[in-house]
Parts: sequence; structure tokens; C-alpha cells
Amino acid sequence: MQTPHILSAWQFNLEEILDIFRLADQMIAVYEQGPIQDLASCKGVINLFCQPSTRTFSSFEIALDSLGGRMLCSLASYEASSFAKGESVEDTIRYYCEAYQPQLGAIILRHPTTGSAEEAARVADEYGISIINAGDGTNEHPTQALLDLYTIWKRRNGNLDGVKLAVCNDLAKSRTIRSLCLLLAKNFRIHLIATCAPQGTSSLPTDLTRELLDYNVSICSTSDLREAADMSEFLYMTRPQKEYYKKPEDLLAFQDFRVTKEFLDSLPAKNPCLIMHPMPVDSVTFNEISPDAKTHPRCIMFEQARNGLFIRMAILKKLLCPN
Ligand code: NCD
Repeated sequence: MQTPHILSAWQFNLEEILDIFRLADQMIAVYEQGPIQDLASCKGVINLFCQPSTRTFSSFEIALDSLGGRMLCSLASYEASSFAKGESVEDTIRYYCEAYQPQLGAIILRHPTTGSAEEAARVADEYGISIINAGDGTNEHPTQALLDLYTIWKRRNGNLDGVKLAVCNDLAKSRTIRSLCLLLAKNFRIHLIATCAPQGTSSLPTDLTRELLDYNVSICSTSDLREAADMSEFLYMTRPQKEYYKKPEDLLAFQDFRVTKEFLDSLPAKNPCLIMHPMPVDSVTFNEISPDAKTHPRCIMFEQARNGLFIRMAILKKLLCPN
């Protein structure tokens, strides 16, 4: 049997997505009622996060704990790992698999290099151990896409057909935008995705654009947030991914692009547009969602982040204890 991994938003079909969403719904009650022991007899997990993370890291830990599963070990930074000494992804993953195989079911990996999750999966396959991609460079973040889409699914009472989405700000380097667009375009009847980014910044990567067009999704681009809000039910804001830009000048164009309370208050009541953001908001440099907009009724990013727990509970249950 093939080892199940979660590497890309590409891999999911409609049935699998809805199955995860329904299981996530059940997980809400499981979490509210307190810890259960469903995963106590299953294999354990290693959290290997080599880039900063608050929500993905914590929600996987808490998801596992809430199901009675075992976190065998958690590494939370590049500097704390031997990657900082030049160790390869292959050697690290092989070490974990060789050393802990009898008790190890999955490794959750976040790494700055595009393709690192696939590389890890090639090694882990030899041992029947699953890899969950928690973000590989500017490539993908499939579990974030699932929780983003789950949030939209719930807000739309379980119907995603024709959903109007605008993806905004760092279109070129946001892995959450890539994974969300792929998940939506491949599985749901949508005709249009709006993109909105400040002038002078790059658009969606060409390979992603091609894939969307292949799924008959048109892309409508603007640099005006109001226009994007007029075109969408969900406006998905992102943080300028400053860790991937070499020169500070490359970031200047992002400086004044933000959702403010004033802007949200000015949207007409008949416009249903809700603001999403994978978080973190960069509250030091860019304030892409201004402090006074974060708790505005139209801004649902904390709801979105909370849904991450239930999606990750569902994913861990399916991977570690499928029957
Ligand atoms: C995102 C990521 O790491 O790609 N964060 C997250 O996992 N929720 C978004 C970001 O860092 O901007």
C-alpha cells in the first residue's frame, strides 16, 4: 500500500475534501467535550518546523493532544535543528525514520525550500511514514488551503459553487494563495478569481496562472481593493513575504496597501464581502490589515484560524488511524 502523504492541494478530489470537512465538523464537538483517546494506540508524530509558525505549529500539537495522540518530539526553528549546520532534508528525514520507525506515523514539515516536502516524502515512503507539508518555501501549504476553504464552505452553508474569491497582496510568493487557488479551481465550479495587488508588484506565478486557465478559471486583475471587494464574497489578504525578498526596495510597493476599518465601514451593506487572512498579519512593517480592522465584523481571520484546529484534527485522524 502506498504511504498517504499531504504534500499539495493538487492531490485532493472533491469527495476527499468533503470527507475532511464533515470530519472536521465532528471534531468541533470532540474538542468541546474534552480530550478523547482515539489516537492513543496509533503511531506518533514529529513536528519539524524550520520556519517561524504560531498557528500551524500549535494547532497540529493541540489537534493531536485532543485526540489522545502522541507528539514524539517538536522542533520549532531552523536554528534549533541541524539544518542550521548544513544537514540535508534527506538525512534529517532518514534519521527520524530509521531511528523511530516502529512508533512514528507522520512527520509534519515546514521548511524554507520549495520541494522539500516532496523530497521528504520520497525518503519517508521507504518506511511507510507520512509527510504532512506545513509549508515548503513559496510553493504550497495544503492544510492551510483546506482550513481556508472549510471556512468559506461553512460561511456558504456547504455550497462552494460559483464562490467569488479575490486573492490579494503578495500574489507571487504566497504559498497559501497558490494552494487555495488550486484546491478551489480543481474541485469546484468557479469561473473567476480576482487578483488584487499593489502596482509595481508581481502577479500570480505563471505556472499557477496556466493551471487556473486549464481549469477554465479566468483571472481578473486590479490594484484597487474596492474593486476587488466589489467582485468578491471573500477577499483573501496576505502578508508581504519579506523573508523571500533580497532587497528592501522590492518591498516598498507593499507599503500602503491595506484593509482599514474606514474601508470596511464604507462597503455598502448589499456587498457581502468578508476579509480573510491566513495570519500572521505583519503589524510591524506593513499593517496589511490595520489594527482597527482586525475585529471588524467583516474580518473573519480569527474564525479561520480557529477552524485550523478542527481541520488538523480531521487530517491527523485520517492519516494515523484511518479505520
Ligand atoms: C502562512 C504561511 O506560513 O505560509 N501562515 C500560516 O501558516 N498560517 C502565511 C504567512 O506566513 O504569511
